[in-house]
Amino acid sequence: MSNIEQTLSIIKPDAVERNLSENIKNIFTKNDLKIKENKKIHITKDEAAEFYKVHQSKPFYNDLCAYLSSGPIIVMILEGENAVLVNRKLMGATNPLDAEENTIRKLYGISIDKNSVHGSDSIDNAKKEIEFFFKN
Ligand code: CDP
Ligand code: MG
Repeated sequence: MSNIEQTLSIIKPDAVERNLSENIKNIFTKNDLKIKENKKIHITKDEAAEFYKVHQSKPFYNDLCAYLSSGPIIVMILEGENAVLVNRKLMGATNPLDAEENTIRKLYGISIDKNSVHGSDSIDNAKKEIEFFFKN
């Protein structure tokens, strides 16, 4: 049975800045994730704080929000079979040092904070995150 899902992907400032967007998009499309929406934006720290509010109690929250708003990002809706999980697998572990070979974070991540991509971690969060960036 088919299980087509949508998930939110963000190419973070460190990767946009190093012109890695096309390489990263190619990894998605080669793995059967279609890019349904795609826009380059520069969000404010307040918007980043809203987006990442699930992490507000974490020690890294302030730096994380400052970072995501530090430069242009590319936000995308990815669609495909089991898209949420497939995207998380393609991204690799949060810390690039722990990420498997050929994952985006292993290939391109600089550090646990500058780890090149964000991806929704559940169907529920994917819906909320898509709404956050693509519905007014
Ligand atoms: O992005 P992912 O879902 O893999 O990780 P998370 O646990 O939801 O954390 C969100 C983001 O916070 C990560 O992608 C990192 O950029 C950042 N983070 C950090 O800077 N330091 C940590 N110790 C953990 C996460
Ligand atoms: Mg997460």
